[in-house]
This record gives sequence, C-alpha cells and structure tokens, in this order.
Amino acid sequence: MIYDFNRITDGHNTNSIKTDLAVARGKPADVLPLWVADMDFPTAPAILEALHNRIDHGIFGYSVPDEKFYEAVKKWQKNEHNFEVERSHIVTTPGVVFAIACAIKAFTKEGEAVIIQTPVYYPFKNMIIANNRKLVTSSLFEKNGKWQIDFEDFEKKITENNVKLFILCSPHNPVGRVWTREELTKLSEICLRHKVIVFSDEIHNDFVFEPNVHTVFSTISKEAALNSIVSTSASKTFNLAGLQFSINFIQNLELKRKFHDERDKTGYDEPSLMGFSATQAAYEHGKEWLLALKLHLKENLDFLRNFLVQKLPKVRLIEPEGTYLLWLDFSAYGFSDEELDSLIVNKAKLWLDRGTMFGEEGKNYQRINIATPKPVLEEALKRLSTALSQK
Ligand SMILES: Cc1ncc(COP(=O)(O)O)c(C=O)c1O
Repeated sequence: MIYDFNRITDGHNTNSIKTDLAVARGKPADVLPLWVADMDFPTAPAILEALHNRIDHGIFGYSVPDEKFYEAVKKWQKNEHNFEVERSHIVTTPGVVFAIACAIKAFTKEGEAVIIQTPVYYPFKNMIIANNRKLVTSSLFEKNGKWQIDFEDFEKKITENNVKLFILCSPHNPVGRVWTREELTKLSEICLRHKVIVFSDEIHNDFVFEPNVHTVFSTISKEAALNSIVSTSASKTFNLAGLQFSINFIQNLELKRKFHDERDKTGYDEPSLMGFSATQAAYEHGKEWLLALKLHLKENLDFLRNFLVQKLPKVRLIEPEGTYLLWLDFSAYGFSDEELDSLIVNKAKLWLDRGTMFGEEGKNYQRINIATPKPVLEEALKRLSTALSQK
C-alpha cells in the first residue's frame, strides 16, 4: 500500500495545540508550527478503520481491553524490541507524563530527591517540582557532535542528594541519543548500588535510525528489570497523543502494587476506549505504515542535513540516532538566547521549541520536529535561511 506523507493536512481549527494556540501563546498568527512532538500526518489507515468501527457501533460505555489487546502489545514488544512481556506486568495509564507523576508519588516522599539528565523533555522537571520533590539534575554534555552521560557526576549527584528515583529518557528527547546497552548498564549499576528506582520513559522507542538499536531498560539484567518501570505508548509512533493512553511494564510486584495504588488514588479506572482500540490496531496492523513513515523521516532528515550544509553551514545539526525531533545548534552566530528565539519566532516565523526549555544546557539550541510533509519542511528551512541571511 502507498502512503502519502507529503500530502498536507491542514491542522487549523481542529483544537490542536500545535496549530491553534500560536496567538494564545504569544506567537504571530502566521508562524509555522514545528514544536510539540505531534506529527502532521493522519494516523495509519488500519487504526482509522478500527476507530471508525467503534464509532459506527455508537456505544462508548466503560470498557476494558481484552486478551487480543494484551497479545498485540506482547507481540509488538517481542518483535520490535526483543522484549518478553507478561500480561500481569502491564499497567495502563492515560499518558506517560501521568505515569511519571504516579511513579514520583509511589516511590518517593515529599522533599525526597529525583534525578534527571538535562537537557530533557521539560515535563520531567515540572512533575518533580509540582509534587514537591527535590529536583536534582546531572547535565549531559556534547563532545564531537554527540551528547553523552557524565557517569561520575550522575553518581555524585545521587549520593550527595540521597536520590530515590531516576527518570530516564530513552531514546533521549531532545538530544536524539539512543543509549547503548553499555551506557544503560552503567546507569543501572549506579542506580542499583544506591537503591535508586528507575523510571524509563521509552515513548520514542520505535523511532531509531539504523544501525542504532533501542535497548529496553529492563532487558539489561534481572536486577535492572526488578528495579525499574518501563513506560511507552503507541502515541508518538502512530500520532495518537490526543487519545490519552499509555502502557507501563512493571516486573517487580511490590513496585507494581505501589504504582497501581497511586494510579487508583487519582480516580482513574477504566482506560480510554479509543486509546486502547487504536493501540491494539496499531500493534496488530500498523507495521507497514510505520516502515513507510520511517523512510519519509529519513528523507526529511537527509533533506535538512543537505540544506544546512549548502545554505546554512553555521547551523549545526546534532546527528540524531533516534526520534524525529532534531537538535540544532546556533552557537556559531553568537546570539543571546532571547535574540535567537526572537529571530526564530518573529523573523523566520517559525514555532520551534527553544533549547533552554529543556534545561540551561540547551542554550543556543532549538528543537525542530521533522514529522511533517517535505514541502512544509522546505518552507520552514527557507524561512530560517532568509531570516539568518540578514545576520
Ligand atoms: C520523552 C517524552 N515523554 C513523554 C511524552 C508525552 O507523553 P504522554 O502524552 O503520553 O504524556 C513526550 C511527548 O513529546 C516525550 O517526548
């Protein structure tokens, strides 16, 4: 089947935060939005069909997934990530950020420390602070175009602050790293040594550029499996974020009970019917669409890289190992953070995510989402080039 990822689907007036909130968030009305991680493509036809069938039935009462759903999840994890899942390890939530909040409450007390590796997806920090826990950060650092972990600093911060929980982003948003088994093993060993539970956010697990391979955190070792929660969703892979559904894998029954208790205290009970129906259809029938999507993303990545080399050699692309969110370094221009952001928003009329939203390490960076039709990406790069040519 041919999928057309270059067809433009107008997102305006669809209640989309990506397209409809520019003015409300202080941007010019005509910005081109390539910020949040929503993609600009309709989801896979097989998912649409499953949702249409639900709609045609017309009854949207409280519902729970059945055995077919669990089989689809197990098969996807096995085939895509070489991860053996048992049904009894699965806990559903309305989103990965929701699961992070549950984990913070389940595994730490108020005032206790939670560590993250900045720059990182900003809700990690927000959830720690909103739940009155102590925020501890260990900075990633960039060397030869690749962002890396400072293991010594990571361990030092853990011991100095008596950290109880680590929220890992794997693959990493925004630096685009797909952590190697070796790196994850080192992180796991440090956490085990200091009794730090690991919450591994693997929502970007299906977007990995070859030859990189995503390693599920709990496949590192039996000890890692019993000391962690792995959280994922079909929402990034198949563009379903608005359906509010995610999946957690928890092998340690004690951790599972605590997590489940916190989830129950929120009043959440039955999951979103559309969320789990779409997820099941995605995992049963979405592979072919995903392969085609990944080819498109690769083409967009190649296009952007070539464009920068030819027209904007001072903008440095951090070569992504995974995700469709690219990390662009503008430091060669010598702008202040404010100047850079103002140029992007007001001159180039682009809505990207400014690097410092992810942590101070993101100074001089902007994150661009390339999950869009190529003509849109072309237009974005043209706007950027025109704005920067005056500099
Ligand atoms: C690393 C990461 N985690 C979580 C999310 C959001 O997940 P959810 O919508 O399931 O809360 C995102 C969305 O961009 C993300 O990049």
